[in-house]
Amino acid sequence: MIKIGKDIAKAVQKLKKGGIVVIPTETVYGLGANATRTESVKKIFKLKKRPKNDPLICHVNSLDKVRNYVKNIPKNAQILAEKFWPGPLTIIFEKNNLIPDITTSNLTSVAFRVPKKKITLKVLENLSFPVAAPSANIFGYISPTSTHHVTDNFSTGIDYILEGGNCSLGIESTIIGFENNIPIIYRLGSTTLEVLEKYIGKVKIDNISENLPGSFKNHYSPSKKLFIGNIKKLCEKFSKNKVGILCFDKKYQYVEKENQIILSERSSMLEACKNLYSSLYKFDNMDNVDIIISSLMPNSFLGKSINDRLIKSAEKDG
Ligand code: TXA
Ligand code: MG
Repeated sequence: MIKIGKDIAKAVQKLKKGGIVVIPTETVYGLGANATRTESVKKIFKLKKRPKNDPLICHVNSLDKVRNYVKNIPKNAQILAEKFWPGPLTIIFEKNNLIPDITTSNLTSVAFRVPKKKITLKVLENLSFPVAAPSANIFGYISPTSTHHVTDNFSTGIDYILEGGNCSLGIESTIIGFENNIPIIYRLGSTTLEVLEKYIGKVKIDNISENLPGSFKNHYSPSKKLFIGNIKKLCEKFSKNKVGILCFDKKYQYVEKENQIILSERSSMLEACKNLYSSLYKFDNMDNVDIIISSLMPNSFLGKSINDRLIKSAEKDG
């Protein structure tokens, strides 16, 4: 049994010793280890069954700490860090030699973020190194938003799980970098494009991201097949299946009500984000459901980020 608790000192001590500690963040839980220690980072890749060409995000408690590990802080990066940290924004910098190549999958850049979760910030404050932490799930599976989800994925190999309750945002950080000073979003997430543009002007969304490290087509996927499209048509197509419907704000008449999960009764995108992954975990554990269907959200603000996750987790022939 993996130990779960709120002992900050214990989490600090395990990380200092090179161990693996699960850390809660406002987005999802992370599988953390010393980002500057090759042996510790190797453990993350092995435990997660993560391909070596998928770089990790480093977590610290302040922008000041980032300075020790990067060549420079571009002006726009500084503006964003000051505005959005602590919070769900990951920023890409040129790395120096203190970050080993394994952490960044041999890229010359490194991803940093300051998470907004008190207990985790306390841990990070007490460490002299950054904590590399991918989402705490087996590679390709649904990201965890509670410690139960973490233990659904792992039964050994973790030295301590820091309990932080349910994640308040529920989908990952937005990842932004700068190429020739042009801001580019590599992954949509909990900080919206629209709000970023208020501070730094026009931001490009990377559309060749399938070639980037870490941008794999099937990701965030439940074990049961998920199909995205028109709910009525999908219900007709899969009439022989035990269909579960992931609904936005209301249930449908086509299948039993108990086979449907609503993301937000009050039609809130923020609440829908919070409930997205936990609903997929629920469906995966429901005996009366063998496939899941859903439709896309309005494609702006957080709806865009939810759609990105739904598309990546869905079957491509739906
Ligand atoms: O909200 C989050 O970001 C969570 C929590 C735990 O902080 N972490 C997370 O990590 O989602 P992960 O490993 O599931 O996703 C990290 C992604 C990689 O797949 C890759 O696409 C991108 O971050 N990444 C990391 N370093 C990069 C770099 N140097 N350049 C471009 N993308 C990078
Ligand atoms: Mg992940």
